Amino acid sequence: MVKKNPPKSFYIRTYGCQMNELDSDLMAGALIERGLVKKETEEEADLLLFNTCSVRDLAERKVMGKIGRMGRRSFSNKIIGVTGCMANNKKESLFAKLPQIDFMIGTNNIHDLNPVLDEFLTTGEQQIRTDGTFTHELDYSVVDRSDPLKAYVTIIRGCDKYCTYCIVPYTRGPEVSREPQSIVDECRELVAKGTKEITLLGQNVNSYGKDRPDWGVLFHDLLYQLDKIPGLERVRFMTSHPCDISPDLMMAVRDLPSLCELVHFPIQAGSNRILKKMHRMYTKEEYFEKVAKLRSLVPDVSLGTDIIVGFPTETEEEFEETYRAMEEIGFSVAFIYAYSPRKGTPATRWADDVPESEKQRRLQKLMALQENFYLRDRENLIGQVVEVLVEKRNQKESQYLKGLTRCWKNALFPGGDELIGTLQKVKIHSISHHTLIGDRV
Ligand code: SAH
Ligand code: SF4
Ligand code: F3S
Repeated sequence: MVKKNPPKSFYIRTYGCQMNELDSDLMAGALIERGLVKKETEEEADLLLFNTCSVRDLAERKVMGKIGRMGRRSFSNKIIGVTGCMANNKKESLFAKLPQIDFMIGTNNIHDLNPVLDEFLTTGEQQIRTDGTFTHELDYSVVDRSDPLKAYVTIIRGCDKYCTYCIVPYTRGPEVSREPQSIVDECRELVAKGTKEITLLGQNVNSYGKDRPDWGVLFHDLLYQLDKIPGLERVRFMTSHPCDISPDLMMAVRDLPSLCELVHFPIQAGSNRILKKMHRMYTKEEYFEKVAKLRSLVPDVSLGTDIIVGFPTETEEEFEETYRAMEEIGFSVAFIYAYSPRKGTPATRWADDVPESEKQRRLQKLMALQENFYLRDRENLIGQVVEVLVEKRNQKESQYLKGLTRCWKNALFPGGDELIGTLQKVKIHSISHHTLIGDRV
């Protein structure tokens, strides 16, 4: 192996979900503490980190292609590190495919970043740490946060649900909740620094605390604690498994002023046979019951979902059931994916028998349906007053300020810079490309 010079600067590229984004900011923070300077391009930096995602084949192929092109000479002095889900998923086999990688650290080894880098610098030998379980409490005070108003806060890591298509339980390991006091303290500190909106992160936030009955704090209890923090205007959470959407949580959405009225709890499919094969542990009817209950308690609640089309053996009729479920419920937010077989997951015991072209047709059909809901959802707000957290001046039409509503819609309204960082009531008069436009009231 060739030894490389200690890096003075780094670049980090993030793939995948919000959890990865936060992990990237954590690693960036740890490197900044060490004295490295963050750069915005690969060319400028000595250390290149790729924080990777394995959830679908395309996500992995993007990274492989990217690092594959780094074999070239202009990159030969740079240190290349692969972090995140692909490190856990591929382990040493990734070194064999891409020998230019100098080290790999998995999702449960973020605390190892600096020691691993040191080990590599002293020995010049490839390093890898990919623990199966998260055990090491992280120091979130170093997170390199770029958004002055909004922040992600991890409350639980890992997933115990084992949906048959999903790689996440294998790349992130079992569920491990973070101590409630540590979460409350971090949120307080963020608010003291100016954060107005916090998104609580976990693969399944509703499982929070179930692994630690000794704490006596479940997800809704935590929400009640956070709601008491003065100055914390908005709390969101991502993502929820429908099984764990409890009446207590629904009541929290109804009763807590800070908790935004947007609940993302993916239905994934509308056919009971497919839901069973996916090991989602609920039926379509049970899902609909939860929606009805939530809507009866919180009439203006917005719902979000993820959907998978083309799961093995999904028939046209079963796909139509998903279509009808989406049509009946009317989600405000929907992320729709074509099934992608993941090696090592139980679903690969069935042939990936829906042709790619058919998956794409189903995907497009649901996207077109969802487009109507995006429009309808926004048209319904014309004439209404919404709350906007004002983030910045709009780039194109600069008379406008820009921000997000409580239910996660972009909104623009004319106003002065002094309003940036505040919450404003805005009466909507029109819409343009999914964006609400209005005037301050
Ligand atoms: N923990 C979250 C989701 C994590 S992955 C939850 O359960 O809600 C995000 C989304 O990717 C999933 O909801 C699912 O819709 C999709 N997904 C996961 N594995 C997939 C696969 N093998 N192929 C296609 N989509 C997949
Ligand atoms: Fe994957 Fe299911 Fe866990 Fe979500 S709940 S991360 S889809 S296994
Ligand atoms: Fe991807 Fe891992 Fe997130 S597989 S979606 S980065 S948990």
